[in-house]
Amino acid sequence: MKMNWRSFLEGLYDLPSRVIFFDTTLRDGEQTPGVALRVEEKVKIAEALSELGVDVIEAGFAIVSKGEYESVKRISGLGLDSKVCSLSRCDRRDIDVAVDAGCDWVHVFIATSELHMRHKLNMTREEVVERAVEMVEYAKERGVVVHFSAEDATRSDMGFLMHVFKSVRDAGADSIDIPDTVGVALPHVMRALAKRAKEVTGLPVAVHCHDDMGLATANTLAGVEGGAEIVHVTMNGIGERAGNTSLEEVAVALKFLYGVETGIKYEEIAKVSKLVARLTGIPVPKNKAIIGENAFSHESGIHVHGVIRHPATYEPIMPEQVGMSRRIVIGKHSGLHSIDTVLRQYGFVLGEGEVRAVLERVKAVADLGRKLSDQELLQIVNELVGSKAVRPVVLTGFQQITTESGDRCIVEFEINGETLRVEGVGNTPLESAVDASLKAFTNILGDIKIIDYSLFASPYEDRHPYEAEVIIKVDGNTITGKGIGKTSGHTILNAVSSAVNQYLLTSSRRVGK
Ligand code: KIV
Ligand code: ZN
Repeated sequence: MKMNWRSFLEGLYDLPSRVIFFDTTLRDGEQTPGVALRVEEKVKIAEALSELGVDVIEAGFAIVSKGEYESVKRISGLGLDSKVCSLSRCDRRDIDVAVDAGCDWVHVFIATSELHMRHKLNMTREEVVERAVEMVEYAKERGVVVHFSAEDATRSDMGFLMHVFKSVRDAGADSIDIPDTVGVALPHVMRALAKRAKEVTGLPVAVHCHDDMGLATANTLAGVEGGAEIVHVTMNGIGERAGNTSLEEVAVALKFLYGVETGIKYEEIAKVSKLVARLTGIPVPKNKAIIGENAFSHESGIHVHGVIRHPATYEPIMPEQVGMSRRIVIGKHSGLHSIDTVLRQYGFVLGEGEVRAVLERVKAVADLGRKLSDQELLQIVNELVGSKAVRPVVLTGFQQITTESGDRCIVEFEINGETLRVEGVGNTPLESAVDASLKAFTNILGDIKIIDYSLFASPYEDRHPYEAEVIIKVDGNTITGKGIGKTSGHTILNAVSSAVNQYLLTSSRRVGK
């Protein structure tokens, strides 16, 4: 999708042709209050980030602890496609430990604002420049790529800041970074600073923004407009205080709004986001851009109608482009299309009059000020339509057996009147249920894949405490199915059957009698 306003940018900015992603999820992201990752967890995230296509992974601050050193060392030794970096103060021991950990880049930093120099470092301007130069030279001697940050750059005297940047450039720094340490810059400021730093040093310039004023993404993009070709980001925007610039927001804006190349594999974004949220214990807010649960959810009838006809009406990009999926939420603002779409996701196809009756009941519940769970929606359908609802595939039997050697899941489906019995195996109840559903539907449909699934604990129901969403691929079609259930395995089976029902009800494939 090309924005009609793209021409407004032409001639205004000299945008870099390719932006380098310097990911600091494992360093600044880990500085999020309350977050501490184990070596194994850091390794998992680093592997995922590398697969996502980030250019540099700041794996940690090697001098900080044994575990941190171990993490940087393990990640450096993985042979990832991404370069691996450690943070380091302007201190010989820090640099030694970082280099010994085997990283490719060392990110050396020293503060340049009067506030930090006087109250934190207790150093004069001259001493700061001297130390920065000496340590950049030392790091270069140790054979690593040197990335230099002037901490609190945006509250530094601008003339002094440029003097520091020039001095470290002369000392051999490979690239320089402008940190907006406490998030006080404005986009105009970041744009001008990046431009100035580039003119003065001729080096690749990075911007490192914090979100204290909610401006991190805007400031980072403005830095790129000013000529910065490296962006410091974290997955899900985690980081000190209000966080750092979100990788996903900048990546999407660069590609879809500016048309600038990155190395990011966009369809991997949601997967990595979920991994980081799970391992750090910092949930993604529902309304977070790109990766929040609501980012591609629609409730209003007008929007749902539009999105069903043409997704671009109310979506800036397609959810699949970032590994997300579209959700239609049922509530007060729903219309007939919403009800029909959600019921199809559960494998039900109703007549127009029946959909209308369901909608009336939904609105009556919503008017009481209650969110309607999917379970309640299905209950309404059951009450109003009962067995008249058309569903080619129905789960009729389910048994789960856990033994020492693994799990077995025995399942019975009625497929257009014929009974099919399969047994799935796996290391967990969930795995054995997934196996059972794949066996059953491969049996009737041929090549079918489960691309992704998510399981949620439902806050509304005791009888069916789980909800699941699955994405299947069959005959080249990607279909999202939903299910509710009593256990994780039961729920996944219901969700897969719903997806298969949708497929069968909309394609010309015939199965069973
Ligand atoms: O925010 C900051 O200033 C930092 C530096 C270490 C680059 O994280
Ligand atoms: Zn920072």
